[in-house]
Amino acid sequence: MTLERMDIIVHTAADMDAAKKQLACNEYDLCFTDMKLPDGDGLNLIKHIQLHYPNTPVAMITAHGNMEAAIAALKTGAYDFVSKPVDLQMLRNLVTTALKLKHGETSQVERRSRDTLLGESEQMRKIRNKIVKLARSQAPVYISGASGSGKELVARLIHDKGPRADTPFVPVNCGAVPQELMESEFFGHKKGSFTGANTDKAGLFQAADGGTLFLDEVADLPLHMQVKLLRAIQEKSIRPVGAQTEVPVDVRILSATHKNLSQLVEAGEFRQDLFYRINVIELRVPGLQERKDDIPQLADHFLTKIAQQAGLEKPRLSNEAREALLNYSFPGNVRELENILERAFTLCEDDTINKEDLQLPADTHNHNHDIPMDDQPLDSFLGDQEKEAIQKALEQSKYNKTAAAKLLGISFRQLRYRLKKLGID
Ligand SMILES: Nc1ncnc2c1ncn2[C@@H]1O[C@H](COP(=O)(O)OP(=O)(O)O)[C@@H](O)[C@H]1O
Ligand SMILES: [Mg+2]
Repeated sequence: MTLERMDIIVHTAADMDAAKKQLACNEYDLCFTDMKLPDGDGLNLIKHIQLHYPNTPVAMITAHGNMEAAIAALKTGAYDFVSKPVDLQMLRNLVTTALKLKHGETSQVERRSRDTLLGESEQMRKIRNKIVKLARSQAPVYISGASGSGKELVARLIHDKGPRADTPFVPVNCGAVPQELMESEFFGHKKGSFTGANTDKAGLFQAADGGTLFLDEVADLPLHMQVKLLRAIQEKSIRPVGAQTEVPVDVRILSATHKNLSQLVEAGEFRQDLFYRINVIELRVPGLQERKDDIPQLADHFLTKIAQQAGLEKPRLSNEAREALLNYSFPGNVRELENILERAFTLCEDDTINKEDLQLPADTHNHNHDIPMDDQPLDSFLGDQEKEAIQKALEQSKYNKTAAAKLLGISFRQLRYRLKKLGID
């Protein structure tokens, strides 16, 4: 009845056999299936549709609280799931978004070119294919990979190529939100709920309503927020700080971190249940060192972009410089490549970037450090090294601490802590 009120033509099938027959005779924009069918398992129906009618999204109806079934369905390729008793507003949201898949397809011409994922390596091709598939689903995706490898870009593309493309994509760096403000940042607050709350304020979930919330550096979430976040994701509703009632929200969750989240789970620093919920599908973005073939294309792309922004002629890379880039290990990955070229662009003369302009740091990756064997205690030796690394990162990021922390692959809080410890002002 709800669907018919939305002017949707509905066919029903009493069992799997009937469903297969109907699928063979009609073209459907969306299919709902129960988990247990009289003559089989709903998961098999998902597989059947994926194989024969890949353009028809399937949503699984699961028993309330049966997260395992829901996740199994998503992993099998279900578009989304609804749990019983079905909340009609959630059902309407799901259907509206799913139907956009069909109508949105042709309008999805290449979006802004800055959002394209470059690289002709086998790994990047695979990732691009996977993005297209994942964009058609509502399943939570966990993107792993080193800092600067392109995780955020991948998340944006999953959003941009899917049915939520015209709705907000809201990224949040979980390590950069101060602890005290975290709950209010995520869920919003009511006026007067704490000192300084002078007006009602919407949180990130509300800002992302109808769209995608990207939890960047999700490993940095403190444990008490992990509990609240899990609840919000499972219930699809949130309670603003100081509010009496919950507000339903419709967001797709994407997350990323450069840390090894399963290790953190083992160490008890990240909740198993939240990990399980956000890591339904994992997508690993390889570091630049694993796909050196992509370096020339990326370098060319960044030089074009940098020159355009400066309104100047695009510089040429000398052969020696090109060679040096190919031999460098790029601990900061694509972001570091971009930074190096930006700096080289300002340093170079005669429109040619030479090896010296790149100012590549001596690669400590492959050979051992010269550890001084004098009487300097280990702690102070390490402290000096740390200081040097932090100072370099700060310089590179023009003293933007958030950016410096990213470069170093640590959270904003960790950087603040280390700055204090090392007495860097
Ligand atoms: N394959 C790629 N093609 C083009 N630009 C890329 C690619 N990968 C990363 N970038 C660019 O490199 C920078 C760092 O990427 P980002 O997604 O922020 O990395 P991460 O989130 O993994 O730290 C961004 O400016 C991004 O646009
Ligand atoms: Mg990032």
